[in-house]
Amino acid sequence: AIKEKLQVAIDGPAGSGKSTVAKIIAKNFAFIYIDTGAMYRAVTLYAKINQIDYENEEQLSEQVATISLTFVPADPVQRVILDGQDVTEAIRSEEITNNVSLVSSYKKIREEMTERQRQMTEGASVVMDGRDIGTTVLPKAQVKIFLVASVEQRAARRFKENQTKGFRVSLEELKDEIILRDYKDSHRLISPLKKASDAVTIDTSYLSIDQVVEKISEIIKTRA
Ligand code: DC
Repeated sequence: AIKEKLQVAIDGPAGSGKSTVAKIIAKNFAFIYIDTGAMYRAVTLYAKINQIDYENEEQLSEQVATISLTFVPADPVQRVILDGQDVTEAIRSEEITNNVSLVSSYKKIREEMTERQRQMTEGASVVMDGRDIGTTVLPKAQVKIFLVASVEQRAARRFKENQTKGFRVSLEELKDEIILRDYKDSHRLISPLKKASDAVTIDTSYLSIDQVVEKISEIIKTRA
C-alpha cells in the first residue's frame, strides 16, 4: 500500500536544537529536510549583497519574488544556493543573525517564503523546522513538535557553535541577543513564534540530542 506522505513540523526559539534534531530525523526516516530559517537568512543576505537597507521593506518586498533560492543535498549538510552562489556559511554570520528577525517580519517576504515552503513539500515526506510551521505553513502536519530550552542552555550551545566557527562573542552578549531575537520573533504581527495548540512540547535543556531524536521518532512512528 502507498503510505500517506508525512509532514513533521518542528518549531521553537533560536538555539532550542531544532535544526540539529530535524536533520537527524530527516536522515533516519529518509524524509526531505527543509530549513525555513535558512530561507529567511538568505533573503537577509540578499539585502546585504544588493546593498538594500534591512529597513527597506518596500524594496525587499518588490524584489523577493525574483530571488532564486535552492537547497542542494550534500554531505554532511545540504547547501543553500542564493542566486547561484553557495551561501551556506555566509547566512550564519552574526550580522545576518542580528538582522533576520526584522527582514522576516515583513508581510510580503513571509507570504513568498510560506508559498515556496509549501511547494517544497509536494509529493514528499518532509521534516520542516522554523517558527510558524505548525501554526501557519503546514497546519495539517501529522506531527507537530515545539522545542524549548532555557536561555542559559541556548546561549551556551550557540557559544560552543561559534567557537568552532571562530566567532568571538561573549556568553553574556549571546544571551542578550537570544532574548532580543525571541522577543522580536514572538511579538511580530504576522505568524509569530507560537506553539500550535496540537503540538507536543519538548524541553531540551537537559536532554541529549539522541534523547530528543528518540522522543520525536516515537511520535512519528505512532502517526506514520
Ligand atoms: O532558525 P534560525 O535561527 O535559522 O532562523 C532565523 C530567523 O528567521 C529567526 O530569528 C526568525 C526567522 N524565521 C521565521 O520568521 N520563520 C521561520 N519559519 C523560520 C525562521
